[in-house]
This record gives sequence, structure tokens and C-alpha cells, in this order.
Amino acid sequence: MSNRTVMITGASDGIGRELARVMAREGWRLILVARRKERLDALAAELAPGHVRVIVCDLSMENAAQTLVAELGDDAKRVDALVNNAGLGLHDIFWESELHSLRSMMRVNMEALTELSRLIIPSMISRGHGYIVNIASVASFQPGPLMAVYYATKAYVLSFTEALAVELRGTGVSTTAICPGPTKSGFQEVAGTDKAPGMSGTRIPDSREVAGFTYRMMLRRRTVAVHGVLFRILVFVERFLPRGLVARLVGRFQSVRST
Ligand SMILES: NC(=O)c1ccc[n+]([C@@H]2O[C@H](COP(=O)([O-])OP(=O)(O)OC[C@H]3O[C@@H](n4cnc5c(N)ncnc54)[C@H](OP(=O)(O)O)[C@@H]3O)[C@@H](O)[C@H]2O)c1
Repeated sequence: MSNRTVMITGASDGIGRELARVMAREGWRLILVARRKERLDALAAELAPGHVRVIVCDLSMENAAQTLVAELGDDAKRVDALVNNAGLGLHDIFWESELHSLRSMMRVNMEALTELSRLIIPSMISRGHGYIVNIASVASFQPGPLMAVYYATKAYVLSFTEALAVELRGTGVSTTAICPGPTKSGFQEVAGTDKAPGMSGTRIPDSREVAGFTYRMMLRRRTVAVHGVLFRILVFVERFLPRGLVARLVGRFQSVRST
């Protein structure tokens, strides 16, 4: 895989940072994107210096994807894998949520992911190969009361990825939606679910495990990959349950998280 370039958004923490470590070990050249420059610089110094480019970008800003691609310059035509990993959640009653927080979440989770894909895919198609990896969630599969907008953004990511996979057939470019369940990372603190029972326990997977899974599924060009046997079973079983019942069950789980 040497001489291949990956761009990872949200590489300053959690799954994105661990994926950068995995792909650096595999010989990929890295373009790391996030807002916290000092964290990206520290990661670049730890990995293969000279093989890492750091770009500071706030993906919640209007036209962030276009700004980022303009900054990439010629590197935009060298991206062999784009990992749309940056994302955030918000645990709150919908009508009490700050409008700007909802807007930022929608921009990062959906708009930036969509526009970066739109801007990067044509050069991948002209070279006849490429990987688009979108970090979705098990939240993609059902409505999520108390995290209503977050779950809806992840449903968008899954639907978008599956549709794009069909459009891309025969081009050499694949799309993969990775669907992790709760994973140890900075996510819970940002979303406001870090005090939830079980979140500090050792049973939930860490970001390193999910990053390894992400890399394997990307190479296999899987369109949808749910992490963990338990969640694969749950996602399968809930297909046979009334959607209203599933929504109420998820709402109960989320209300426990907020207490
Ligand atoms: N952890 C979980 O339980 C879980 C479960 C399912 C799916 N996921 C998904 O996994 C992905 C990675 O999350 P994580 O768990 O690794 O969380 P994390 O540790 O909080 O990492 C999130 C990353 O996104 C970046 N980011 C957030 N807002 C940004 C913005 N406005 N502009 C640019 N970058 C931004 C952060 O960097 P800066 O703050 O430096 O900008 C950080 O590097 C997300 O899409 C999340 O929805 C997580």
C-alpha cells in the first residue's frame, strides 16, 4: 500500500486518530484534518514525519469542504482513500437544543461528508481506483429520541453510502459505511453522554479496535459493515419489529443515559 494517500477527517481524537496509526503502519501517506492543530501536530510527529500533512479545518463552517479541497491543491488528485470520520453527537430534548449546535452537527456529519465525496470522487474515477469510507453508526438503523438529529444524520450517511455504492459500480471506487456501536473516544463527552452507566466500563470497544475493523472493511470494499456480533444481531432482529416500538425502546435507553 506504499505511495497511497489517505485523507482522514477528525484525526485528532478517537477512531480517526487510531485509524491514522493503523494506516501509517501499513505505509500510507496521511493527510490529517481536524480543528485542534496541536493534537494533529503531535500525531504527525509520532507517525512517519515527512509522510504526514496536517490541515486545520472547521468542517462546521459554510463551504468548509471547498475550502479544504482548495487548500489541498494537487494533493486533492492524489487522495486514494477518503475517510469521512469527523462527527459529533448531541444528547438533548430536540426543542431545547441550541440551534447553532444542531446546525454544526448537521454540517459536519452530513454536509462536509457529502461535499468532500463529491469533490474527491471524480479524480478517483479517472485513476480507476479509490475508497470512500463514511463513519456511520448503529444509530443509522433506527430513530433516536433524545438524540433525534444525530441519529437522523447517521441514517443519512448510511442511505447515501449505499446508493453511491451502486452508482460507483465498475469504476474501481468503493464506498463503505462503518457502523460502530458505543465506542470509547472523545465522543461521549462532546455528546453529553459520558456519565451514562456502562460508558466507563471496560465492555465497550475502544477506538483502536474500531479503527482496525474500519481498515479491514475498507480493503474488502464492504458497503455496510456493522462492528460487533451483538450489534449485527440487533440490527438484523429490529428489521422484524414495528419501527414505532424500536423508537420507544431507543428513547428509553437514551433517557437512562441522561440521568
Ligand atoms: N464513539 C462512539 O460511541 C461512536 C459510535 C458510532 C459512531 N461514531 C462516529 O465515529 C466518528 C468518530 O467519532 P469518535 O468516536 O472518534 O469521536 P471523537 O473522539 O470525539 O472524535 C471526533 C473527531 O471529529 C473531529 N471534529 C468534530 N467536530 C469537527 C469540526 N467542526 N471540524 C473538523 N473536525 C471536527 C474532532 O476533531 P477536533 O475537535 O480537533 O476538530 C475529532 O477528531 C463520528 O462520526 C461519530 O459519529 C462514534
